[in-house]
Amino acid sequence: MRDSELIQRARKARELAYAPYSKFKVGAALLAKSGKVYTGANVENASLGLTVCAERLALLKAVTNGEKDFVKIAVVADKDEPITPCGACRQVLSEFISDLRIICVNLEGKIKRYNLKKLLPDAFEKFDKDRSTDASD
Ligand code: THU
Repeated sequence: MRDSELIQRARKARELAYAPYSKFKVGAALLAKSGKVYTGANVENASLGLTVCAERLALLKAVTNGEKDFVKIAVVADKDEPITPCGACRQVLSEFISDLRIICVNLEGKIKRYNLKKLLPDAFEKFDKDRSTDASD
């Protein structure tokens, strides 16, 4: 799938954000290796710390639909410079793919591309990458 299509899906997802406190809406679209796209938007809460970011929601939706392999994620927000995923989302994404391609876009269409490896070097990993048994067992 082309980046432009994934970005479009993230833009559309952003419209469903629930952000009455910050008024800052974020949309994300995550492409799984299966070819399916999972979208997310930020969902805030009166108890602010319980807010869920767009990227994490997209990932959790994907994982709970049986996906574990991912290709890239597009993140859209209204800011002069495209935003990058927060630290918590970086860690959660890295659980499944340490070299995820991240496409950050603002509403004017300015694009910045990153790799998760660059945004979260030396991420915490509990399991060895060469483990012989499935970590989910
Ligand atoms: N937010 C995201 O959804 N993704 C990010 O990568 C950064 C921040 C949300 C959380 C909160 O609802 C709002 O943006 C302002 O921080």
